[in-house]
Amino acid sequence: MKVLVVGGGGREHALCVGISKSPLCQKLYCAPGNAGIAAVATCLPIGAEDIPALVAAAQEQAIDFVVIGPDKTIALGLADRLAEAGIPCFGPSQAAGRIESSKSFMKDVCTKAGVPTARYQRFTDASAAHAYVKAEGAPIVIKADGLAAGKGVTVARTIPEALAAIDDALVERIFGESGASLVIEEFMEGEEVSFFVLCDRQGAKFFASAQDHKAAYDGDKGPNTGGMGAYSPAPVIDKEMEERVMREIIQPTLAELQKRGCPFTGVLYAGLMMTKTGPKIVEFNARFGDPETQVMLPRLKSDLLALLYACSKDMLDGVELEWHDSAAVTVVLATRGYPGAYGKGSIIRGVEAADTVPDAFVYHAGTARNSAGDLTANGGRVLCVTAPAPTLSLAKKRAYEAVDHIDWPEGFCRRDIGGRL
Ligand code: AMP
Ligand code: GLY
Repeated sequence: MKVLVVGGGGREHALCVGISKSPLCQKLYCAPGNAGIAAVATCLPIGAEDIPALVAAAQEQAIDFVVIGPDKTIALGLADRLAEAGIPCFGPSQAAGRIESSKSFMKDVCTKAGVPTARYQRFTDASAAHAYVKAEGAPIVIKADGLAAGKGVTVARTIPEALAAIDDALVERIFGESGASLVIEEFMEGEEVSFFVLCDRQGAKFFASAQDHKAAYDGDKGPNTGGMGAYSPAPVIDKEMEERVMREIIQPTLAELQKRGCPFTGVLYAGLMMTKTGPKIVEFNARFGDPETQVMLPRLKSDLLALLYACSKDMLDGVELEWHDSAAVTVVLATRGYPGAYGKGSIIRGVEAADTVPDAFVYHAGTARNSAGDLTANGGRVLCVTAPAPTLSLAKKRAYEAVDHIDWPEGFCRRDIGGRL
């Protein structure tokens, strides 16, 4: 099979490494890819949001199967355009992808399906939103309705903070149209877990669990990021909890989407809050997580490509999911300044040395090569240093051993990933 992976981050590097190991994969392309992905795939210089160019490339290269990484690509409807062109793809339609791209759609589906989630109301008018917040009190959560690159959520500890977040979105329009409508919801307390499920039009299978660390600095301090590290599996998801989440959250959500004429296919990523009264949904994503993918895929024993392809062909029922009896930890190395402004082009050394730590592997996120061939930083999150091991604590030790081989003064990482273990 000729396969095209869309995206260019650590998640897509992990997907490309997994797919390249499959005997079903004859040729692997990635658009746009990165310096690490270039070692396992032919990178095409096409942005992950350039839908017409992606479809044209898939046709020109006679691609048999496309795997979509990023949320934006799903929201822009690549799966629909590929379906029109007769090219199978892993990833939901634009309509099913609203479970991630529209918070109000997601909340509406959860309400209809009876899925436990935070109480909420939707607002487009700032004074009505102010009145609601004053009546409800703090803490309270303010969310831009549309995609806002992970920045559209404010967990407001005080009323003035909540009022400011409302004004930023509805009056100042700092998120543009994505924030022209807000969802304001109840604050939920508990441990957060990422729960991944493979889906085809007929059914679903639990894939794996992980936990990520979203704050920029040690001790969960500092601004929210896309994720500074992760580990898998999540100790709170035992077999009983897995079955409960499938029954109470996943199955009713998928049935409701089916009923609305937009069956979900691909991977459904449930962001859960493990509250005192049970698991509740914080958000749904319509794709794999980043950096969660980097800690789940090294644990997978089954053929990744066969699994993803089965989802697109409604053949998931017939495939077995097998896992190594292991855990994994990934530590993200980011450019100093991230998630704020940061420079590009600084030289990174020591990646080969890090790879020599037993089983450790460095996934590339925002990397490139300069004209001299040096590896350089080309984004905020730059490397994901990953180690699988028989236990989570050993995986953590190995991951940091590998991190310590990397020589990159312009970068930083958290030293407490897996600290909750
Ligand atoms: P989201 O983009 O919806 O994942 O939200 C980003 C982060 O905000 C989540 O990972 C949670 O840590 C936090 N968050 C979102 N909604 C809630 C809520 N209702 N209660 C508590 N924390 C929340
Ligand atoms: N790790 C968070 C995300 O992928 O959205």
